[in-house]
Amino acid sequence: MIDIHSHILPFMDDGAADWEAALGMAQDAIRDGITTIIATPHHANGQYMNPAPSIEQAVKVMNERLRQLGNPLLVLPGQEIRVYGDLLNDLEHGQLLSLAGSRYILLEMPSSRVPRNMEEVCHELTIQGYVPVIAHPERNAEVAADPARLERLIEQGALGQVTAQSVAGVFGSKLQKLSLELCRKKLVHVVASDAHDSGHRPFGLSEAYRVLEKQLGTEVSGFFRENAEKIVGNKEILVRNQDEPRKKSRKLFDFLFRNH
Ligand SMILES: [Fe+2]
Repeated sequence: MIDIHSHILPFMDDGAADWEAALGMAQDAIRDGITTIIATPHHANGQYMNPAPSIEQAVKVMNERLRQLGNPLLVLPGQEIRVYGDLLNDLEHGQLLSLAGSRYILLEMPSSRVPRNMEEVCHELTIQGYVPVIAHPERNAEVAADPARLERLIEQGALGQVTAQSVAGVFGSKLQKLSLELCRKKLVHVVASDAHDSGHRPFGLSEAYRVLEKQLGTEVSGFFRENAEKIVGNKEILVRNQDEPRKKSRKLFDFLFRNH
């Protein structure tokens, strides 16, 4: 499996505290069936600043240490970027990282709200050829209250990343229900661990896929697996579902109807 969101790098944020913890997490990842993992330290979330060069350096050292230990896990560079005022400027100046050097870029919203400039930032990134991937929208209070807030961003070209533990029900049945609903509606398109440690916030990716398969079927769980692969391989992800053409013609119908 491929995990596109993790806090496995040491000394960066509230993830792995040191090398022992990071290498322990790497063993956990292998045990869970993960072969490739994108390290996505928090950046500009008000607490942690992890500009691109420091992440790239830490990824290099981590892979060296893993090879020395005979651990086959491949770590790739990424960043969990809080939507902040200087985001576009910092991207231009090489301070930000996309996911594994792809067109996909992981964005984090505050948990309480959808930032006012969210649509504008996503739009600008899209114009520049990036595909915003919104981290765990199911844990955002405004999205939970009104999933249409997320739908607008998805229609604009963003993707959603649901967290494995949300899908598996670790954060409660209410959040699990919402997560599965977002999966069903294709408002989220990829599942990732967002693992922070070996205890409270472990990987649990295999369990999330088991739940997805059981609750929504092999087609949906396959869609999620494929999308994680496409992100690492920088391949295009098609999000349009079968309902979209109908929705469009419905909009046209409403428009014509209203104008008569
Ligand atoms: Fe995260």
